[in-house]
Amino acid sequence: MMTAGRIPVVGAVVVVAAVVVTLGGRPSVAATQARTVWDGVYTAEQAARGAPLYAWSCAECHGSDLTGGEMAPGLAGSEFAWNWNGLSVGDLFERVRISMPQGVPGSVSRQEKADILAFMFARSGFPAGETELASRTAMLAGISVLAEAPTPR
Ligand code: HEC
Repeated sequence: MMTAGRIPVVGAVVVVAAVVVTLGGRPSVAATQARTVWDGVYTAEQAARGAPLYAWSCAECHGSDLTGGEMAPGLAGSEFAWNWNGLSVGDLFERVRISMPQGVPGSVSRQEKADILAFMFARSGFPAGETELASRTAMLAGISVLAEAPTPR
């Protein structure tokens, strides 16, 4: 009963957002914040760049198939995604930027870490898109990690 009553409201919000985007000529803040890992937030080429970087800097502990090792958790798939569900890609990037590779976080550059995240996202089944994942935390703060694809808007 509640659900039936809410459908028109959701529809109206989408229409308003679309009008704001159209009239404003640039994405509204609301539209930016609503982006998720299901919106194509990295490119296939970037993920391909990230693969050897991951193998070199992360696989030793997190496993060559990203499923984790003795101490380190997996970095792809549903358990990983649920761990980060609702948090932002900025939070995830900061986690890696500050603390990974464990013990030597400065050994991998910001750009390389963004490429590694793209590779992790590809392995989690998040779709590739037209724009590369940025290496600036502020630009990643508006993208949410969602373990499950949202229902089509
Ligand atoms: C020397 C081993 C080691 C290496 C190399 C390493 N990690 Fe880790 N990583 C760990 C351990 C152990 C944990 C869990 C304990 C902790 O949080 O520090 C972890 C945790 C993480 C987490 C948090 C996972 C979660 O869901 O909570 C992320 C993300 C991560 N690592 C990414 C990376 C990336 C990306 C690289 C390569 C750039 C990397 N790690 C390299 C050992 C390592």
